[in-house]
Amino acid sequence: MLRDIERYLTCPHCARGLAFEATGRALRCPGGHSFDLAKQGYVSLLPGDAHTGTGDTPEMVAARADFLAAGHYHPIAAALAEAAGNASGADGLVVDLGAGTGYYLAQVLDALPGAVGAALDISKFALRRAAKAHPRAGAVVCDAWRPLPLADGCAELLLNVFAPRNGAEIHRVLRPGGSLLLVSPTSRHLRELVDALGLLSVDEEKERRIDEKLSPWLSPVAAREVEFELRLSHQDAAAVVGMGPNAWHTDRARIADALAALPEPVAVTGSVRVAVYQRAARPGG
Ligand SMILES: C[S@@+](CC[C@H](N)C(=O)[O-])C[C@H]1O[C@@H](n2cnc3c(N)ncnc32)[C@H](O)[C@@H]1O
Ligand SMILES: [Zn+2]
Repeated sequence: MLRDIERYLTCPHCARGLAFEATGRALRCPGGHSFDLAKQGYVSLLPGDAHTGTGDTPEMVAARADFLAAGHYHPIAAALAEAAGNASGADGLVVDLGAGTGYYLAQVLDALPGAVGAALDISKFALRRAAKAHPRAGAVVCDAWRPLPLADGCAELLLNVFAPRNGAEIHRVLRPGGSLLLVSPTSRHLRELVDALGLLSVDEEKERRIDEKLSPWLSPVAAREVEFELRLSHQDAAAVVGMGPNAWHTDRARIADALAALPEPVAVTGSVRVAVYQRAARPGG
């Protein structure tokens, strides 16, 4: 619930702390800025002029929710929960930046019984689900490319799974000594579908580029590859295409035709890197 993370939230206009109004239906800062809770339990802390163009659409969110509920990416969630158990002091705040439906945050919170979670995403459609993903999690609409509505140094752990990452803001909200757990696809991820359907592929340099971009603020301390086989119906395969970056770039009719030519179930490689980064003492340090 949002109550669990109330003390960490800050105003997107003036950066002062937010607290629930007596009615329990809005959050307010000492400067009088006020933010109503949506009836589904999340709150939007986007400054008024922000656009939500890169947020997941209802169709993308529904495709991802069904696919994740079927357990296809359970090996990723299990690896993340294990890394969280090793990295964190167990209590405190876990932030999931680009949390989507909250699937991974929920499993990490299950592994950390003393922690609370903040699911951050720019898509309200995703957060309607994330708001209900775990009893100890609250959901906040915000833009990863702007100042996050969270207090300096408030987070023990930050998760980032197939989502936008902003090194400067991740550094600011992590406590000294806190960690970032980052999941990114390797060049082998979904390669059978990439080949058969002509999808966007992940280039081999991706890991190096991620490390380079984060390097002023975070340093990699450990990484493992998690590789597993997915056995997908054509519907699941369409969902996995519809929930990723390909949803923006591909023609559905063409995908459906190409899928029909594949065996069912189709065997597909899942392959991700789960990396742990330590917050640098100072930017660049
Ligand atoms: C590929 S999805 C991954 C979601 C989730 N981590 C998962 O793996 O199930 C990327 C997510 O990033 C969100 N997103 C895109 N642009 C964003 C932005 N500028 N700020 C915050 N979230 C953003 C999308 O709405 C979407 O939920
Ligand atoms: Zn304010």
